[in-house]
Amino acid sequence: MSKTLISSFSQKLIAWHQVSGRSGLPWQNNRDPYAVWVSEVMLQQTQVATVLERYPRFMKRFPTVKKLAAAHIDEVLAEWAGLGYYSRARNLHACAQQVMHDFSGKFPSDPLLLEQLKGIGRSTAGAIAAFAFHERAPILDANVKRILARLFAIEGAIQDKAVNDQLWVLAENLLPTKPEDMPVYTQALMDFGATWCTARKPACLGSERKCPFVKDCQANLSDQVLVLPQKVVKVKSPEFNCDMVLIRSGNSILLQKRPSKAIWGGLWSLPESPWRLKALGIKQLTPDLKTLLETTLPEIQLAQLMKSCKGPRQGEQIKHVFTHRRLWIQIWEVQSSKNVDALSENLKWVPLNQLGRLGLPQPIKILLQELNQARGDDLKN
Ligand code: ADE
Repeated sequence: MSKTLISSFSQKLIAWHQVSGRSGLPWQNNRDPYAVWVSEVMLQQTQVATVLERYPRFMKRFPTVKKLAAAHIDEVLAEWAGLGYYSRARNLHACAQQVMHDFSGKFPSDPLLLEQLKGIGRSTAGAIAAFAFHERAPILDANVKRILARLFAIEGAIQDKAVNDQLWVLAENLLPTKPEDMPVYTQALMDFGATWCTARKPACLGSERKCPFVKDCQANLSDQVLVLPQKVVKVKSPEFNCDMVLIRSGNSILLQKRPSKAIWGGLWSLPESPWRLKALGIKQLTPDLKTLLETTLPEIQLAQLMKSCKGPRQGEQIKHVFTHRRLWIQIWEVQSSKNVDALSENLKWVPLNQLGRLGLPQPIKILLQELNQARGDDLKN
């Protein structure tokens, strides 16, 4: 490991940030750990441009950890709507309650304690500790892994435990010595990875920008920038298609209880067709109502439903990834003029605002929550 690079890295990076880093963002220069934590979680899977719009709104709605902890989860999910990756919102809420109960409402400054909170991994813990408490704690998100793998020409896939451990050691060794440099250094690392040392078009391979590490970076010196970090060759899991029918009568939805041994066993879900292995290049045609109801609801009084229903209309397509397979769910929306009753014990009409009481598969829960939310918005308008 190059001793000179280790000792000069943080200062060179901070100097780079003064000229080329991002500044003036609403979550920067803030030592309130609550504000830092919310911004870090929001920025995890959402683009800066979207966070710029949504972060101030979230902070206005839930200005303190106390207010967030006291809110109902549905309010938090409603505020998060549209940002995706809803487990982040559930974790935020659970974490706020942990901070209230276990830490008297004060975020700990020790990254090891932060890491024990719901939804906070080692890198996010490092970021919060650095930004809010000036702790000398490293971060190691995907962008930082790429920077370090290139600087030190680390071979092997970064998902590999040994490689990952090695990167954490490097991240620790590169930290600035002065704690007060931690916020700008941490922001600089994030910005350098997101804007200059990018995966496909790193600055060193273009002609407009001069990377401050051209002479230090082992990947640059050995012409390996685009091959590092090494990618793992993933064997893709098989893909399936299925249709689900969203039959709506007024504010109720027809739900079907899933067989206990199937995927999502015993949960209530939308009536679903058998899965088909996804064939490449085959466009999905809109099925006629009879075929759709026959394939999704084989046991019911078809004639009765046929009489009361209109549609189908093509709705959302949802991709759901299981450990060993991927499922593309096509939603078909059908309007029913009445709640056709006594269908079977595995079928029932459920009012949209009572879905919270039932166990639903995650993607269906999100879909119906959004529908309920949209309904609420309709009522307000
Ligand atoms: N991604 C995660 N944290 C970030 C931050 N503080 N600034 C920009 N992008 C980020």
